[in-house]
Amino acid sequence: MFKEKNVLVMVSGSVAAYKSATLVRLLIKSGANVRVGMTTAAQEFITSKTLSILSGNDVLTDLFVGHTSDIVHIDWAKWADIIFVVPATANLIGKLAQGIADDAVTATIMASTADKIIAPAMNDNMLANPAVMRNIATLKKDGWFVIESAVGFLAEGYIAQGRLPEPIDILQQSAVRLRAKNGMLIGKKVIITAGGTREDLDPVRYLTNRSSGKMGYALARAAAEMGAEVALITTIVRENIFGVTNIFVNSAQEMFDVATHEFATADVFISAAAVSDFKPAEIAVHKIKKQADDGLTLNLVQNPDILRTIGQSKKSHQIVIGFAAETQEILVHGQDKLIKKHADMLITNDVSQSDTGFSSDDNAVTILIPNRSPETLPKASKIDIARAIMTRVITLK
Ligand code: PMT
Repeated sequence: MFKEKNVLVMVSGSVAAYKSATLVRLLIKSGANVRVGMTTAAQEFITSKTLSILSGNDVLTDLFVGHTSDIVHIDWAKWADIIFVVPATANLIGKLAQGIADDAVTATIMASTADKIIAPAMNDNMLANPAVMRNIATLKKDGWFVIESAVGFLAEGYIAQGRLPEPIDILQQSAVRLRAKNGMLIGKKVIITAGGTREDLDPVRYLTNRSSGKMGYALARAAAEMGAEVALITTIVRENIFGVTNIFVNSAQEMFDVATHEFATADVFISAAAVSDFKPAEIAVHKIKKQADDGLTLNLVQNPDILRTIGQSKKSHQIVIGFAAETQEILVHGQDKLIKKHADMLITNDVSQSDTGFSSDDNAVTILIPNRSPETLPKASKIDIARAIMTRVITLK
């Protein structure tokens, strides 16, 4: 997202200013050209020298000194593709919301048409102050992406909201929001299942499989990047993605209940979870004990088929997509599942490989769509595969 982009990081006077150094490093690592501007107060917390060395550029601190250009703030404003204000104090937020441009930072921001991201960080009472809340709301209305401050240990020595989120989280959230700006799925609801279901055997044991949830999370991110409202129904806790609501479940029955409920208001359903076909006929109330030298015979019954149920009940505007985890005759089984599950698209993957499929960071898939030739996507990261899948999804209806 940030590769070869001109990114301006504006720093204001908060104890969290030190985190701007990490943000600059992360941006440089992701291939951005980075420049930094600082308010006078910011220089009380971190030196311009540090940020100059990290960004590889002079730091903008003053409108009138130290630069050869006559109208430096206009030059910098034009140069920037993206502006981060990290951290943003109540004072700077107030100025930006009210259109005050009385220093290098505010004048440059006001003169720029770049995408603007702001991350407030301050004392919890300041954050809750009606004037600050009003100003933040104004910035949102003006098109700023506001990164909500986190709940955490404040400099004041107690836990409350006002903490600057970690730079990596700021960057990841910004990447999703910037991509989603003109996304093809704005206004659409996408529900996705992820992870292996867990079928309780007794209070301490369950049956499950090797699914890590990585493919489902990657699809959730890719859909959010296209502007969709995403509900991720997952058995695995991995990460919070902006625009994605995580709904945690355990068993196939729980996943079935949530998925069928959510599908009533959804446009797209993607079944990436490895759903157990079977569950124990009964869950033992107490831990199952060893009986002398005997083994244990389990009596299993079938779970509901979530994909097939949803595929059968879909309305004409709804899109249903399944996966097929196969170890042999992959395309044959995939075509069979495409039809039997009433899917609009079925993605096959070979789960006998150790470097793709279950748990790995990569995957290699073949996309099956009725009346179209199969399309193979060679091995790539799961997020790249997910993005490619989502671009095919928007061609379906
Ligand atoms: O989670 P990862 O470690 O990243 O691994 C990704 C993955 C290999 C799990 C994923 O890419 C994948 O293949 N998911 C589907 C796994 C699966 O259950 O495949 P299946 O061929 O058994 O089922 C076919 C389809 O029916 C799947 O979309 C499945 O979600 C769905 N299904 C299956 C059984 C059932 N009772 N209800 C279902 O909805």
